[in-house]
Amino acid sequence: MHKDYVMQSWSKSGVDALPIERAQGIYFWDYDGKKYADMASLLVCSNLGHSLPEIVEAIKAQTEKMCFMAPAYASEPKSTLAKKLVELAGADTYKRVFFTNGGAESNENAIKMARMYTGRQKIFSAYRSYHGATLGASNASGDWRRFASELGGSVASFVHFMNPQMYRDGYTRGVDDAEVTKKYLDALELQLRYEGPENVAAIMMETIVGANGVILPPDGYMEGVRALCDKYGILMICDEVMCGFYRTGKPFGFMNFNFKPDIITFAKGVTCGYVQLGGCIVCKPVAEFFEDHVLQCGLTYSGHTLACAAGNAALDYYKDHDIEGHVQEMHVIVKDFMDKMVEKHKCVGEARLIGLFGALEMVKNKETREPLQEYGIPGPAMPWIFAELKKRGFATFGRENFIEICPPLIITKEELEEYLPILDEVLTLADEKFCD
Ligand SMILES: Cc1ncc(COP(=O)(O)O)c(C=O)c1O
Repeated sequence: MHKDYVMQSWSKSGVDALPIERAQGIYFWDYDGKKYADMASLLVCSNLGHSLPEIVEAIKAQTEKMCFMAPAYASEPKSTLAKKLVELAGADTYKRVFFTNGGAESNENAIKMARMYTGRQKIFSAYRSYHGATLGASNASGDWRRFASELGGSVASFVHFMNPQMYRDGYTRGVDDAEVTKKYLDALELQLRYEGPENVAAIMMETIVGANGVILPPDGYMEGVRALCDKYGILMICDEVMCGFYRTGKPFGFMNFNFKPDIITFAKGVTCGYVQLGGCIVCKPVAEFFEDHVLQCGLTYSGHTLACAAGNAALDYYKDHDIEGHVQEMHVIVKDFMDKMVEKHKCVGEARLIGLFGALEMVKNKETREPLQEYGIPGPAMPWIFAELKKRGFATFGRENFIEICPPLIITKEELEEYLPILDEVLTLADEKFCD
C-alpha cells in the first residue's frame, strides 16, 4: 500500500520502503521481526531513543486533560516549555520563544522576524547547508534540495555563499584553521559588500552543518561571522534543528564556540519526534521589538499542547539523566573507533565527530582525496554501503560521500561495542570493492 498510495520524500514514487512495526530504545523492528539499531537517530531526531516511558506517559497524561488549545490561549505546557527553552539557551541573552511544527517552519519564521526587525530583505545562507523543504527554508538551503523551490520573484532575496569544508577544500583541521577562516571570512565580507550590507537582514547558518556531512567549522569561523553581523547590523540566525539538544554534548551547538546567535531555530530533539514541534528562541532586542510591533507570524498548531507536553518531558529527561555527561563519555568510545577507521580503511578519508554528531568522509583514494562519489553525481558506492549496513541491522543514512554516525544519545557502551564492528566489516568490503 505504501508503494501504491504514499508519495515518497526526495524519491520517485512507487519505490520500496522498509515497513517498520515497532521501536524501543535504540532499536526498531520490521514486520518479520528483524531488529535494526538506529545509528542515525532516524533523521538525527530521536535523541532519547524510541518509546521512552517518561515522554509517552507525559503525552498520555496530557491527552486526558486537553489535546490542543489554540495559539491565542495560554496553557501550562506551552508557557512552561517556553521558559525552559529560554533558560536552556541562556536567560541573560534570550527572552521569548515562537513555536512551530518543525525545522523548516522555524527557519521560515526566523527569516520573517529578521526582515521585520531590520526592515531589510536579503538573507545570506551557505551552499553547504540544509534548512528545510518549505518554500523559504528551501531557498535558504544550499544543497540540491532547493532547486524545485527556486522560483525567483517573491523569494529572490536569498543569497548563497560558500562555507568551508576543510577536508574537501584540501586543508587539514587543526593545522590550517587560521588560513581557512581568514580566506572564507574575507570572501563573505566582499560578497556582503557587493550585495550591499544595508540590504541584508540575516545570515542564517547551521551552527554545525548536519545533513551535508557534519561539517565542523574551522576555529574562529563562526565567531568571525558573528563579528561581520555586528559590523553591518545584520542578525545572525543559527539553525540548531539538528545540532541542538545535547547532540554535540552541549545543550545547543553554539555553546561549543565563543559567540551567541540572535535567533536560534530548533525542532527534532526538543521532543525527539514523539510529537512534532519546532520554534525560534529569540534574543532580548528582537523579542522586545515585537512588544511594540505586531509579529506577523502565526500557525494553527503553534505551541501544540501535546507537543509541548512531550517537549517538557524530553527536556526534563535530558537534565535529570545527565545526558550531557553521558554524551561526553560515549563520545570517547565513538571517537576512538572513528579514528581507527581512518587508519585502517582505504575508503575513509576523514572522521568528524562532536558529541555524538559524526560522519565519515568517504574516498576512493586517500592520497588525492578523490571522493567515493562526487557531490551531485549519483553512483553505486554509497547506496551499496547503506544497503550492506542495513542488511546487518545497522540503520543509518548519508549521501554522496559521507556516512552519518549519530546514534541516540542514550546509547550504551555495550550497544556501541556490539554495533560499531558492523560498520568496520562493511568498510572492509567497500575498500576492496571501490578503492584504488
Ligand atoms: C539543520 C536543519 N534545518 C532544518 C531542517 C528541516 O526540518 P524539518 O524537516 O522538521 O522541517 C532539517 C532537517 O533535517 C535540518 O537538518
